Amino acid sequence: MTAMPPTTTPTATTAAEPTARTVTTRTRDPSPATARAPARSPASMRLAGAELVESREILPGQWLQAFHAPELVAGARAGQFVHVRTGDYSGLVLRRPFSFNTIDPVAGTLTIHFRTIGRGTEWFTRLRPGDRVDMLGPLGRPFEVDPRTRHVLLVAGGLGIAGVRSLADEAIRDGRHVTLLFGASRAGDVYPSSLLPDEVEYVVATDDGSVGHHGFVTDLLADYEAWADQAFACGPLPMLRALAGLAASRRRRLGVASLGRKRGAGRQLPAGSPQARRRAFLQVSMEQNMGCAVGACLGCVVMSTAGLPQRVCREGPVFASDEIDWEGGW
Ligand SMILES: Cc1cc2nc3c(=O)[nH]c(=O)nc-3n(C[C@H](O)[C@H](O)[C@H](O)COP(=O)(O)OP(=O)(O)OC[C@H]3O[C@@H](n4cnc5c(N)ncnc54)[C@H](O)[C@@H]3O)c2cc1C
Ligand code: FES
Repeated sequence: MTAMPPTTTPTATTAAEPTARTVTTRTRDPSPATARAPARSPASMRLAGAELVESREILPGQWLQAFHAPELVAGARAGQFVHVRTGDYSGLVLRRPFSFNTIDPVAGTLTIHFRTIGRGTEWFTRLRPGDRVDMLGPLGRPFEVDPRTRHVLLVAGGLGIAGVRSLADEAIRDGRHVTLLFGASRAGDVYPSSLLPDEVEYVVATDDGSVGHHGFVTDLLADYEAWADQAFACGPLPMLRALAGLAASRRRRLGVASLGRKRGAGRQLPAGSPQARRRAFLQVSMEQNMGCAVGACLGCVVMSTAGLPQRVCREGPVFASDEIDWEGGW
């Protein structure tokens, strides 16, 4: 089993200095992606026992836990999630959803990264190695990366890192270049760079300017949008809404879909299909309060631009940003 990597607290020197200097050196590489990973279908969900392998607090109130759960890991993809039952003695009825933070199919392990905000997440922090929990997964629809994409831009706000973290591994494994823009309120909340693959270019923004760019992570998009073939984001709703607005205003000149190198590039595809999402410049992973997580209770609905309810647990949690009615007030 692979152990979790050691953590170091980030400093101004571990987080890459963002903005203009880095960006002016960037040019698009015109050659096609070296690795053309075939499109994979998400695996069907399973209910399985998962044994805690390791648990540690990586930032104040934020935990990283590794579970051995080979049945759940097989075929799981970045963007999907597990629905985890707390034990009988917790007194909690509903399962709790967590993104696959990392997936190691060889070791049969997955990690989750969570913040303690209530009784469920606090219950998980009391688990010890060897304890078992009951997990349902993999659930939801994953991120869809266009085979032509070479440059992958990840945008994470706070705990949103857990939603995009495994896509960094997938993209690097498939021979792509990855830049992660990460936003936090202050230096003490910045995701440790030691938990990222070395190949990732890591750019940090903090609200108070204590490390990296002083301001919102969304400020950084303008410096990277021309470099990126596709962008993938997870974080607070205002951040996703702002990114969706930026992407919409530049749609005609962004992304692999606009390259027109592939036959049928201009063809209309059914909204919400994996093919349509694969063409989107920006995909977002949404979080809503969940009940069943299998599409039955309608407790997690957001509205699409076509006026149709979309279940975050079934049609999502990943959507193309232009599928969502961001002003829908759901
Ligand atoms: C698809 C999906 C993936 C997720 N992945 C992660 C992850 O990787 N890491 C992580 O830390 N969290 C993640 N979450 C959120 C996580 O599920 C909740 O934080 C957790 O269920 C809270 O449980 P609790 O019992 O501790 O808090 P509760 O006592 O249930 O809630 C405490 C407070 O948090 C609010 N809350 C609970 N769940 C959510 C939610 N989903 N969105 C917004 N507010 C909420 C409640 O309204 C309440 O105010 C994810 C949610 C979804 C839907
Ligand atoms: S949580 Fe029940 S339908 Fe999504």
